[in-house]
Amino acid sequence: MMSQSLVTMCYIVATILFILSLSGLSHQETSRRGNYYGMLGMAIAIVATTFSGAVNNYVILIFALLIGGAIGTKLALKVQMTQMPELVAIMHSLVGMAAVLVGYANFMDSTSTISGVEKTIHEVEIYIGIFIGAVTFSGSVIAFGKLSEKISGKPLLLPARHWLNLGLLIATIFLCGMFLQQAEAGSGTIPLLLMTAIALAFGVHMVMAIGGADMPVVVSMLNSYSGWAAAATGFMLSNDLLIVTGALVGSSGAILSYIMCRAMNRHFLSVIGGGFGTASGGEAAVVEGEVHPIDAEETARLLMDSKNIMIIPGYGMAVAQAQHTVNEITKFLRDKGKKVGFGIHPVAGRMPGHMNVLLAEAKVPYDIVYEMDEINEDWDKVDVSIVIGANDIVNPSALDDPNSPIAGMPVLECWKGDTTIVMKRSMASGYAGVGNPLFVKDNTRMLFGDANKMLQEVLKALKG
Ligand code: TAP
Repeated sequence: MMSQSLVTMCYIVATILFILSLSGLSHQETSRRGNYYGMLGMAIAIVATTFSGAVNNYVILIFALLIGGAIGTKLALKVQMTQMPELVAIMHSLVGMAAVLVGYANFMDSTSTISGVEKTIHEVEIYIGIFIGAVTFSGSVIAFGKLSEKISGKPLLLPARHWLNLGLLIATIFLCGMFLQQAEAGSGTIPLLLMTAIALAFGVHMVMAIGGADMPVVVSMLNSYSGWAAAATGFMLSNDLLIVTGALVGSSGAILSYIMCRAMNRHFLSVIGGGFGTASGGEAAVVEGEVHPIDAEETARLLMDSKNIMIIPGYGMAVAQAQHTVNEITKFLRDKGKKVGFGIHPVAGRMPGHMNVLLAEAKVPYDIVYEMDEINEDWDKVDVSIVIGANDIVNPSALDDPNSPIAGMPVLECWKGDTTIVMKRSMASGYAGVGNPLFVKDNTRMLFGDANKMLQEVLKALKG
């Protein structure tokens, strides 16, 4: 068994490692190191908690660690890169469920000896912990359904939904008063159960009301909620490390949600209120016009004739796993003296940093990967842009159709360059389900087919 001061020491070291991990993850060059810090911090935290004297049944603990660890390892090995956002969503739901279960266990704990103000504070912790946990749990399950397309991405807009949310909030506060009163007398189960049901319904309603294009904000928001749920669990268990770690996750998730909202030109409150951009009244414009197809040989010729090339990766590049072929083409073109860059939209793909992770995996140099703001002024200098499996993030209707569900979202304005080549398999719409006028612009060429297959053909044509 470890002494209390050694446990505290370990918790401080783990906290420092978690902070270093977060700061490491904020840059591509240091992200690998950031991950190692996080893993080490978590290992220290688990060992210190296990031997802190708080555990009274090691057999159950070892079984739980083995079962949980085996399921986690199996899932992590099996999951495709494109399914990562769903996995993250379902993991968040587990954090929420843990907070609910710990809350009920604490509530039913008959061995507790605390009384007076301390007891009331503990009951408030339990109530808030269960509330945040239940919202996180049900919201994350719905987010999982939407991201895996098991549930429609279309927002469910109930009539008077904002009043409904307000009603649920008032009921929660009222039930809190009832719970605290009854808990004094040793009961309180009914208000606690009612509040849990309301919180579960609130989580479902909140995420169901959010439209497809706003899902990135939901993912980061649930990330933040799961952090606060963990912090609440920390309060209930009087575990300082869990409080600090939860607060770190909660606040970094909140900052990420804010950044996402800014990137998508959304107001945070209107996104979580639901249905932003979908209640604008009119119908989004239907896309009409002539499509100009192109083949791999012609694409290769165009690339060889240009000096400045910009590649825009999107979700389809992840589906096709085309990043390695993209890197080979990039190397080839740069060896021929071309300037090649990558333009990354903040919500490209299905999770924050999705494209950066794929490009880093393929060893694309970091210094040629640009953020949207860095390149949106310079499209007139671009000879050819290649859009690889991206759709919503290059949709001009976001800027010029006020009725579009993605109206107001900044996009990569590649059509301002000389020529745009769009690689996708069909004319199908993207995640937000809106038509894209880029595909019928005069200076757009469509290269139809699986992105990886077509890029391999382009590479062959370039080399041949
Ligand atoms: P999307 O708009 O979803 O477009 C992806 C395109 O890739 C599709 O139109 C599809 O067209 C094409 N595609 C799929 N498989 C392909 C393959 N094997 N080869 C070639 N093309 C393929 O993606 P985006 O432009 O990256 O935009 C992201 C969207 O997801 C935004 O609406 C964003 O709000 C949303 N979202 C983002 C996040 C985060 S945090 N990034 C989270 C949730 C939702 P075909 O079927 O015709 O091939």
